[in-house]
Amino acid sequence: MTDKYAVLGNPIAHSKSPNIHMMFAKQTHQDIRYEAILAPLNGFADTIKKLMAEGYKGVNVTVPFKFEAYDLSAQLNTLAKHAGAVNTLRFEDDKVTGDNTDGLGLVRDIEQNLKTSIQSKRVLLLGAGGAAEGVLHPLLDAAPNTLVVANRTVEKAVAMIDKGKMLAQYGSVGLAALAFQDLERQSFDIVINATSTGLSKTALPIPNTIFADGCLAYDMMYGRETPFMAQSRVAGAQVADGLGMLVEQAAEAFFLWRDVRPETAPVMQKMRAL
Ligand code: ATR
Repeated sequence: MTDKYAVLGNPIAHSKSPNIHMMFAKQTHQDIRYEAILAPLNGFADTIKKLMAEGYKGVNVTVPFKFEAYDLSAQLNTLAKHAGAVNTLRFEDDKVTGDNTDGLGLVRDIEQNLKTSIQSKRVLLLGAGGAAEGVLHPLLDAAPNTLVVANRTVEKAVAMIDKGKMLAQYGSVGLAALAFQDLERQSFDIVINATSTGLSKTALPIPNTIFADGCLAYDMMYGRETPFMAQSRVAGAQVADGLGMLVEQAAEAFFLWRDVRPETAPVMQKMRAL
């Protein structure tokens, strides 16, 4: 019997996940179906119940339901707990398990696909919203020398950094929260844009001097050239968009569901060509 999976969001029509997961399934000979489902804004939990009753094995969850998915998970893996948000649900015998694969997806894309080790590097994370929170712990797990979070609302960056400081295992990472204007005279090896400014085509008030020689500038957004990408290109950085992260977080979800790890490189190539 074909196992059923889906991605739930609102809106959802733009989602590339069905395409990615069906490519993984074909490549690994897994008999699955994967569709995009629009959940009503006030009907996420009901939609999940209905899908479970229909025998679905799991779903991916995207904006704006990652926090609700966290709340309805009976069991959570560590990364989901740290992120306070869930992007992958597994349904087993009426039990819901929540995982978060976003951060692992980002780290894999940076380290394996872009061949940039995070270990001992100076890393700047721009933004302190849901997207930034979701990747904070996997970034810290990769053992950078420094991790600075900069955000328009600096209190949110401080709260994020304080959570990281509470965990003994990150004792060797230099953690700091800054406002954008405090970034003068600082430079970084990896700069990650986790703000939503790409959507509104807004430039961030960041100086070009933050990009050290050989810097990787990574925008978690994909499908368009953002002002952040344009600026970092002019500043001489190597620039990447978030398509690799999208494919890698999907591969991790596929692995959790199917216990098979798909190859991501051919899928990324095909997605870029679409
Ligand atoms: P997401 O789920 O995409 O992270 P979010 O939780 O609303 O969405 O967070 C949006 C992030 O983009 C925040 O860091 C936000 O900064 P604030 O915390 O100060 O709101 C940032 N952001 C959005 N618009 C911005 C802008 N015009 N300039 C700078 N930062 C912006």
